[in-house]
Amino acid sequence: MEQRQCDGFFELMEALGLACSFNDVRLKTGYSEIKPADASLETRFSRRVTLQMPIVSAAMDTVTEESMAIAMAKLGGLGIVHKALTPKEQADIVTKVKYDLNGLIARPVCVSVNDTVSDVLLMREKKRYKFFSFMVTDEHDKIVGVVTHNDFDFCGDKSKKIGDIMSCNIISAASNITIAEAYEKMISNSKKILPIFDGNQFRGIYTLSDVKRILNGNSRTFNLDASGSLRVGAAIGVGSDLEERLELLSRARVDVVVIDTAHGNSKGVVETIRYCKERYPDIDVVAGNISEGEAARRLVDAGADGIKVGQGPGSICTTRIVAGIGRPQLSAVYECEKAIRGSGVPICADGGIETSGDITIALAAGADSVMLGRLLAGTKESPGDVIFNDGRQVKVYRGMGSLEAMLQNQASRERYGQADAPVGKLVPEGVKGLIDFKGEVAPIIFQLTGGLRSGMGYVGAVDIAVLHDKADFFRITSSGLVESHPHGLDKIENYKPLNS
Ligand code: XMP
Repeated sequence: MEQRQCDGFFELMEALGLACSFNDVRLKTGYSEIKPADASLETRFSRRVTLQMPIVSAAMDTVTEESMAIAMAKLGGLGIVHKALTPKEQADIVTKVKYDLNGLIARPVCVSVNDTVSDVLLMREKKRYKFFSFMVTDEHDKIVGVVTHNDFDFCGDKSKKIGDIMSCNIISAASNITIAEAYEKMISNSKKILPIFDGNQFRGIYTLSDVKRILNGNSRTFNLDASGSLRVGAAIGVGSDLEERLELLSRARVDVVVIDTAHGNSKGVVETIRYCKERYPDIDVVAGNISEGEAARRLVDAGADGIKVGQGPGSICTTRIVAGIGRPQLSAVYECEKAIRGSGVPICADGGIETSGDITIALAAGADSVMLGRLLAGTKESPGDVIFNDGRQVKVYRGMGSLEAMLQNQASRERYGQADAPVGKLVPEGVKGLIDFKGEVAPIIFQLTGGLRSGMGYVGAVDIAVLHDKADFFRITSSGLVESHPHGLDKIENYKPLNS
């Protein structure tokens, strides 16, 4: 097995019977030839789902729905839409994320050769479409032409058939064309619309305005799929609606599904991985949550494309107190990474991240990405209203295993193995709390990735793979932790002390 610098540290901890959490350690600094700004944060959430930066928003009903998923993908990360929604509601959110940039419009509005110009103009007005470009189909639904703004402008007789004014000279491309190539092709052929075909199969269209918008935006930092749409993930369970949920998510073109349970080392999760991989081999499957190496191996053997580690470290979790289980998160990440090292399956460290330094430490221990709940909750993009509490603007952040969430949705009861428990017999494993309203999520991500870059600079790691290889830890004492935080000042500005 390939050796890593921190193996010795964790072997020593194990020999002492110690499992560590983020606050138990700090990273050793190393010789560096890189500036923080040069550090690459590119990584993967699962075998085929890449990230421009390693932050994923949690599959929780107070963290990730449409707005958060769009914002996270635009910031280069990923949002996992929670599953306390009906399969249709969840798939609709995925569809909205996929269509946010309109990179490729997979199901464009088509008109028929036999429609009249006035039929189409009326339909356009009724449906409040802002665009004038339509693909034209014949009686057999075959694409035979295209009409654009000019065709409508220069048509004096509105009773004419679309078939008479359309252009049959279709300039098309295959689906592996990049956004930049699509733009070049449209400009060089003076076309406002570019149909995409793979052989005879019609895949959709690019429009000039959308492509221009994407290229002029910050799309280089966006997390996009092969067709130029934002990437998005969705949580699934092992319960009764699995079949329908997966089918609708697949149709919505979800990039990755996350089997979201409190105990991933279980028969239901293993069977669900196999089911997903058999039925939907094109969708990556991330499975969790676990905290033991043996569990990581089992899930990888079953076919998981990614592993999610974290049993009880989360800010709203009470699992460790209620059930008495769970390995502290830093050691959990390391143990799982060691168990599947060389498999090519990425690890996501889920829960308990309080600072940007914790992100560097989680990645250094072997994670490829981190999942955040609390740090992203309370933002403009998180679901839920801003309310006033004691004169402060706040939002609710709650565990999916809190009593309120369990009472409200079956998905939460399933996550904690209490699908059939009567209402009065629920045993919550999470809490609900209030969190100060923080405004937009982008500045938060900037600070978190900035801190990570800085940490990579101190270690001398140009990318996350080098961080994995080079990182090594000190076990610190409680005085080391006190020394690490600002101290001895009366009024500290722009700094949030531990767990605030
Ligand atoms: P943070 O610390 O980022 O953690 O707020 C978010 C993660 O916590 C998990 N989660 C729970 N765990 N009881 C638990 O034991 C709960 O009620 C609960 N709700 C969420 C989840 O993995 C999430 O990503």
